[in-house]
Order: sequence, then structure tokens, then C-alpha cells
Amino acid sequence: MCGFPHETFDRLRAEAPVWWHPPTGHTPDGEGFWVLSRYAHIVAAAGDSATYSSQGGGTRAGGGTLIEDLPGGWAAGVLLNMMDDPRHARVRRLLTPSVAPRTLRLIEADLRARAGALVAAAVAKGECDFLLDLAAELPLQAVANLLGVPQEDRHRLFGWANVALDYQDRELGEINARTREAVAQTRSYGTRLLAAKKAAPADDLMSLAATATIDGEPLSEMEQAMLFSLLIAAGSETTRNSVALGMAALIERPEIWHRLRTDRSLLDGAVEEMLRWASSTPYNRRTATRDHELGGQRIRAGDKVTLWWASANRDAEVFPDPHRFDISRKPNPHLAFGRGGHFCLGSALARMEMRVMFTALLDQVASVELTGPVEYTRSNKHTGVRHMPVRLTAWD
Ligand code: HEM
Repeated sequence: MCGFPHETFDRLRAEAPVWWHPPTGHTPDGEGFWVLSRYAHIVAAAGDSATYSSQGGGTRAGGGTLIEDLPGGWAAGVLLNMMDDPRHARVRRLLTPSVAPRTLRLIEADLRARAGALVAAAVAKGECDFLLDLAAELPLQAVANLLGVPQEDRHRLFGWANVALDYQDRELGEINARTREAVAQTRSYGTRLLAAKKAAPADDLMSLAATATIDGEPLSEMEQAMLFSLLIAAGSETTRNSVALGMAALIERPEIWHRLRTDRSLLDGAVEEMLRWASSTPYNRRTATRDHELGGQRIRAGDKVTLWWASANRDAEVFPDPHRFDISRKPNPHLAFGRGGHFCLGSALARMEMRVMFTALLDQVASVELTGPVEYTRSNKHTGVRHMPVRLTAWD
């Protein structure tokens, strides 16, 4: 397994940009689905939530943003990212100030100190697992901080999230005993945390979720609990993969590492290019709410339509020489964080975490080499890394 299948998507963009993936033995729910691979179509679909619903469409009971249908009542229509407006916009508006750049500036110094300490510990060891020791740790500490999860509990949550998001021992959409247990544990932890926050609110996101009201009504218990699970997963899994895959790109290009070291003004551009390159959320699904045409194809109400951000990010119509890792790319209008009303709520946090982590690395590390192969996660929900053994050499 070696990451996202770019060659397949190069071909789809060229030959069949709106392609009907027929049902196979592996397609969830025994159904086919549409595959959008071109930037322009994906931007159009992501910007038209009335036609492309995150919740459901046609005669489906469920829906959501994964290829497999998730049931209405606890996922579709309840999770913020699988909810349509107007409810979606109202819940989102409640949360936005907690992740706005102005708020995040207050935690930046803390994250810098944490990143510095993590890198120092890894450098002292010499060899480490870049994924576990560095890439995963900072986002986890940051999201624990943001949500008001005690730092000592974060590894338990991380363990559950890993089980729920990895497809090592099961088919797409299949839920086995291990994943059922992990999802249940996360949910029950979230319920206990929310009760504690309700009793004694603090200045964190879960206290806000436990106490906020819309038209005088609190969020439903299910909405609160699902928000917790969503933020733990979204906040910890995606960023670590972008950091790890960004680092892997830099390991293959030591000259860029040295340029970044001497000219930090290049770092923001490098972070954007890492986000585009990694596209750690490869796709999200929508459901067509009405019959319509796209790219010469007839899409019917209720059809599943998948938007492949990772493919849009390599579309030569928008990104010249798209398979080149180029930190000076300008403009770089990548879709790593999606587009439209569901644009990633944590994008400013993710960008800050990446900046902070690479600053700490550039400050302390002269070179990074792989000491073994990068091991990828088996998943199409996340393009991710499970292990990445490296040797870090400190500056003299
Ligand atoms: C590099 C890191 C990240 C990537 C690549 C990423 C990617 C994405 C994408 C593609 C979407 C759009 C989903 C859709 O349209 O269906 C999204 C939404 C979302 N992300 Fe992120 N994300 C990242 C980091 C984060 C972090 C750190 C948080 C939490 C603090 C977060 C929370 C969310 C939430 C809550 C949504 C749903 C927003 C809505 O539906 O209105 N993400 N993310």
C-alpha cells in the first residue's frame, strides 16, 4: 500500500471526469456511486449544497459524507459535517469563534512550547517513529486543549480514534467488534465529559457545546456527543497525516529543507503545498437531491456523488505541473480543506499546528532520514500514515 492512487485519478480526470463507479463486491451498500475528479466539477458541487446534500437525498433513510450510508438520527443530520443548512449554519456559527485565528493566537505560545519539547525529546532519542512521536502528538495535545479534555486522557481517545478510522482488518463500511467497541468507548467518554462540563463550564469547546442554545433550546444530547466524536477524529487524525506526508516530501527533497532553514518566509507557502500534496482527507460524499446533469452525465435524485479533493489538488487545469512539490506555488488554491459551506472548521488550527511543528523541527534538526519504509493506513477516508521510522540529526 503506498498512498493515494494518483495515476488512476489522472486517467479519470482526462477520460471520465464524472464517472459512475459500478457496484462491486467491495462497494458499500451494494451500490455504485459517482466519482468527480476534476477541480471545476468538485468546486461546483461543493458550492451547491441544495443539489449536493451532506445529509441525504432521494428516498434514502440515511446518507452522510462517506461512501457508505450512515443512518439518520445519529450520524446523517446530526453530525455537524453531515447536516444541511439551515441547522448546519446555526450550529457552525456557535463554534466558529472558538477556532477563529484571533482565539487561536492565545494558544499559539503553548503549542510552540509543546512542539519544541516534543522535537527535543525526539532528537535526544536520535531515532523515532515520526508519526507517533511527533506528527500525532501535537494535534492531539491541541485538540485536547481546545475541547477541554484532560491531557492525561488523550492517548485513550487516540487509541479509539485509530481503531475507528483504520481498515486494517475489515472492508469499507464494515463494522466489526473492535470498531463497535472503540466507537462506543469514545461516545461514552464524550457523554461523561459533556455532563462534567455542563455542571462546571470552563472556557473550552465542549463547555460551549454543553451549554449553548439555538432559539432557547440546547443542542440535543446526540448532537453534543457526536460533535465531540467528530472533533476528536477531525482534530487529531487529519493534521498528523498532513504533517507526516509533508515531512516525507521534504525528506525526499533535502534542498528544500535547507532553503526553509535559511529563509523562514518560505514556510507558509511550504505548509500550503504540504496540504495540497498530502490531501489527507481524500474525498467527501454528497447525495443528489434532484435529477440534474453534470459533465454530460445524468445524475438522479438519491445518487451518491463523491468529491475527490485529492484529485482536484492534482488537476493540471489549476496547478501547473501538478505532481511537482513546489513550495513557491502561487496561487495555491488547493481543496485540502474542502470548499463551500462545510469548509474545514479547523483549518486555521491545522495551519498553525503545521507551522509550529515545522518551525520547531527546522530550529532543532539539521536533517531527517527514513530508516525504514513509510507504512500507510489502509483507508480511503484518510490518506494516512501508520508508522514512519526516521533518524533525526541535530544541528551541531
Ligand atoms: C490538515 C488537517 C485537516 C484537513 C486536511 C481537514 C479536511 C477537512 C475537509 C476536506 C472538510 C470538509 C468536509 C466536507 O465538505 O464534507 C473538513 C471539515 C471539517 N473539519 Fe477539517 N481538516 C483538517 C483539520 C481539522 C481540525 C484540526 C479540526 C478541528 C479542530 C477540523 C474540524 C473540522 C470540522 C468540524 C469540519 C466540518 C465543518 C462543517 O461541516 O461545517 N478539521 N475538514
